[in-house]
Amino acid sequence: MKGVILAGGLGTRLYPLTYATNKHLLPIYDEPMIYYPIRTLVRAGIREAMIVVSGPHSGQFISILKNGKELGLNHLEYGYQDNPTGGLADGLKVAEDFAEGKPITFILGDNVTDADISKSVTSFTTGSVMFLKKVPDPERFGVPVFDKNHPKKLVGIVEKPVHPPSQYASVGLYLFDHRCFSVARKLKLSKRGQLEITDVQNYYIRDGSMKWEELKGYWHDVGTFDSLLAANVYWAKEKGLKV
Ligand code: TTP
Repeated sequence: MKGVILAGGLGTRLYPLTYATNKHLLPIYDEPMIYYPIRTLVRAGIREAMIVVSGPHSGQFISILKNGKELGLNHLEYGYQDNPTGGLADGLKVAEDFAEGKPITFILGDNVTDADISKSVTSFTTGSVMFLKKVPDPERFGVPVFDKNHPKKLVGIVEKPVHPPSQYASVGLYLFDHRCFSVARKLKLSKRGQLEITDVQNYYIRDGSMKWEELKGYWHDVGTFDSLLAANVYWAKEKGLKV
């Protein structure tokens, strides 16, 4: 399967750090943040990837990632999202030609995890898979809604709900068949002015072809100073630093 990494956005919650560089190029201990989602793809057996960049520091990615070989990729392409805050589904659309009508693994560039999703990737055929993690603050994420009578049956997903219907967050890691692109192309802007990935996920839920799995292992999305520090501490310890 091919992989797509989304690395746009403006990283406004990390100003002033992100005035001079893109959030995904900030360090997580000894490596730029963007290495971690790329390694997640490589660990899953993916060797061909597109990174979708945008915003004022887009050019810096190629200096760091080059052709991706140092990270274990055979082929790395660069895509450009016109509007850096157009939404996750807007960024996904950039990869349509790259995907060549086949399924993709889609990961957000600020998701740092040690999870091994190779089995899910290898066995994927059609539909979509969402990965869920129990979190203390689900209101910050897309939150799955389960059937009252069948607690494992998904009936929807809601974006950043004020009253979360479950303790789970949908993490920034998705498997999609090729239909995700035509769905994303037809989306309308949400109230916050973005094309929402949860609207793509809701298409698959309505279609009955969405599966979910609990993501095993460490996972964090890095958007704030606290999560940046927490991810640095975790990976520093993991890589042997005595702190
Ligand atoms: P966000 O955390 O929603 O946005 P951000 O990273 O720009 O941060 P802030 O809210 O502080 O301004 O983005 C989640 C991930 O998706 C992150 O890796 C950036 C990426 N992204 C895009 O590539 N394109 C987009 O249009 C958006 C909204 C996010």
